Amino acid sequence: MQLSSTNQSEALISSNPRIPIRRAPVLKPLPPTDQLHFGKHFSDHCFYAKYSPDQGWYDSHIEPYGPILIEPTAAVFHYGQAMFEGMKAFRHPNGKVFLFQPEFNMKRMQEGAVRLCIPAPTRDVFMTGLRELLTLDERWVPAEKGCSLYVRPTLIGVDPYLKAVPSKSALFFVVLTPVGPYFGGRSKPLRIYVEDSAVRAVPGGLGAIKAGANYVASFQSALKANAEGFDQVLWLDAHHEGVEEVGTMNVFFVLKGEIVTPALNGSILSGGTRAAVIEVLKSMNLPIIERKITIDELIQAQQQGRLIEAFGTGTAAVISPIGELNYKGSPYYVNQGEVGHLTQKIFDRITGIQYGTEPDSFGWMRPVSDLD
Ligand SMILES: Cc1ncc(COP(=O)(O)O)c(C=O)c1O
Repeated sequence: MQLSSTNQSEALISSNPRIPIRRAPVLKPLPPTDQLHFGKHFSDHCFYAKYSPDQGWYDSHIEPYGPILIEPTAAVFHYGQAMFEGMKAFRHPNGKVFLFQPEFNMKRMQEGAVRLCIPAPTRDVFMTGLRELLTLDERWVPAEKGCSLYVRPTLIGVDPYLKAVPSKSALFFVVLTPVGPYFGGRSKPLRIYVEDSAVRAVPGGLGAIKAGANYVASFQSALKANAEGFDQVLWLDAHHEGVEEVGTMNVFFVLKGEIVTPALNGSILSGGTRAAVIEVLKSMNLPIIERKITIDELIQAQQQGRLIEAFGTGTAAVISPIGELNYKGSPYYVNQGEVGHLTQKIFDRITGIQYGTEPDSFGWMRPVSDLD
C-alpha cells in the first residue's frame, strides 16, 4: 500500500460498496494450532483507513497482508506517534465468531489518540474495519479450545515532516494473528521479578494509554528478568512503592479478607480483562477493592500468610497465575507456587463465556456479523 498513491483503487475488486477489497491471489496455509506462537503468523489480509484534515477518514479498504510504504520522515518513526489495541475473536460451538468487548477497545483507542494527538478513528471506521476484515479472513479463527484470533488495530501519525509537531494525517490498520494459549499452554504459575529500579510509566505520562512508547520502556527490564530466569516484571510506581502492573497485564492479589487490584492512578492501563474480572468478583459477592497497594504491604502480607493468591489479567493470557514474587533478591512464594482455586475459577468463568460454553451473563460478546 502506498499512502501517497491516488490510483490504487483501479487494482481493487469491490465486493462491498463501502469497503473495496483486493483479495490475496493465493491464500496461505493455516498453521497447525499446536504450533501457534503469539504474533508470528498473520492472516491473508489487512484493513486500512487514512485520515487527512481535508478529507477526514477516507479510503477504507482491505488488501493482502504485506509491507506498506511510509515516508522515512513520518511522525511515527521519529516522535513515537503510535498506539494499538488488542482483542480476541472466538469461534463458538455453533461456528459463529464473536469478539470480546470490542466497544471497550474502541473507546480506549479513541481516548488514547487524544493524548497522543493522533486523529482518532471513528466508530464507523473502527467497527466496519473489524467486521469486514474478520468476515473476509474468518477461516483464521481457530475452533480449538484455548485458541483464538488476536486482533491488532493500530493507529500511527504519518505526516512526512521532521518538525517535532503532531502529525495532521493518520493511518489506521488492523492485522490478525491466530494464537494458542499465550504462555505455551502451561498452567504453571509465573515467576515474577519485582523491578525496583527502572519505571514503566508515571502519572500524567503515557502509562494509561496503549502507546508503543510504554512497551519500549519496558523491554530492557523484561530482558534482564528473562535472563535471570523470570517470566515477567512487576512494575512499581515512580517512587518504587506502589504496585502497578505485571508485564503487559493488570494484577490482582487475593489477601485474607479482601481482593485488591491497584487503582487506576494515571500510569496504569485500564484493562478490559481487569474490568471483566472485577465484574465477575462482584457477581460472586467477593470483596474486590481498587486501591493503592505497596510492595512493602504485599511482602508483609506474604510473610504473615495473608497473601493467598495472585494473578495477572490481560487479553493475551486472560488470567495468569503468579507463583513467586522476587524482590531485592529474595523469593516470596504465593500459594506454594501452585495455581490458586479462585484464580482457576475466574479463568474458567471468563473463558467459558468467551468460547460460548457458558451463557454471556455480562453481555461481553459481540457477533462479528453485527459490528457497527
Ligand atoms: C501494559 C498493559 N497492561 C494491561 C493490559 C491488559 O489490558 P487488556 O485486559 O485490555 O488486554 C495490557 C494489554 O494486554 C497491557 O499491554
